[in-house]
Amino acid sequence: MTSRAPVDTCVLNSDAPWDEFDPSAYLAQNYRDLLDVDAEILSLMRDHFSRHFADQAERPILGIDIGAGANLYPALAMLPWCEEITLFERAPKNVGYLQEQCDGLDPDWDAFWKVLCESKPYADIDGERTERFHQTVRVEEGNLFELGRRGLFGGPATRGKWQMGTMFFVAESISTSHKEFRQAVRCFMRSLAPGAPFAAAFMEGSRGYDVGNRHFPACDVDEAQVKQSLRKFAGEIETKRLGEVSHMVRPGHTGIILAYGKRNQGRRS
Ligand SMILES: C[S@@+](CC[C@H](N)C(=O)[O-])C[C@H]1O[C@@H](n2cnc3c(N)ncnc32)[C@H](O)[C@@H]1O
Repeated sequence: MTSRAPVDTCVLNSDAPWDEFDPSAYLAQNYRDLLDVDAEILSLMRDHFSRHFADQAERPILGIDIGAGANLYPALAMLPWCEEITLFERAPKNVGYLQEQCDGLDPDWDAFWKVLCESKPYADIDGERTERFHQTVRVEEGNLFELGRRGLFGGPATRGKWQMGTMFFVAESISTSHKEFRQAVRCFMRSLAPGAPFAAAFMEGSRGYDVGNRHFPACDVDEAQVKQSLRKFAGEIETKRLGEVSHMVRPGHTGIILAYGKRNQGRRS
């Protein structure tokens, strides 16, 4: 993800050209091949979710990936445990890509799935993964800043609705504003039920990125800011910074931060 816009230009989420976000260009830049950093993230997320559900008799039925874009691996990571997974996305062309994938999962995602299959819950559904994806995943077009509400004044209640959730490269990659970054994290965490396991990934030190010939905003965050943004909402939280040279294949950032844990009881947060 390359840097181009002046650093001090403030671009809010509502200012960015989401209608022109091109999923083919984004896929070609980021997910055509499985990178070492994604394999490492997949392993950590796989083990976190597998550990969480190993001693849980009650399985979640609702999962959500917020700002899914053209990345299916967070949804694949939730597949063994969900009866329904919502892919929540703002950009219309990304919504189109995700809908196509529900009808037939592209074999490009097989390499990502293979990493997950090193854990039994995924290996157990290996043969039926395409059918299961088709039956489980639904796509919803919308604005994440409207998630996590209590449902006052006739609006739908989305606070605490989902029992498992992911948000990858979204909170810091949709605006230059740190206020909107924290707000996006808050909306994600508030959409989760008490005790829900989650995983969220963040670009560290990003100054924005290009998709095809369009520039998109980002805000520069580090591991401490990521942890701080989540702390109030998480009962348990681990962060891992992936900053080796082999993790820097996408230009324009200084590393990747993965955070995973469980939503707290959420009575006050
Ligand atoms: C950098 S991309 C990340 C895509 C994908 N999650 C990934 O892991 O590669 C940011 C995504 O957030 C989506 N997005 C931007 N603003 C949003 C909003 N207000 N509500 C929901 N999604 C939004 C964009 O359309 C885009 O798909």
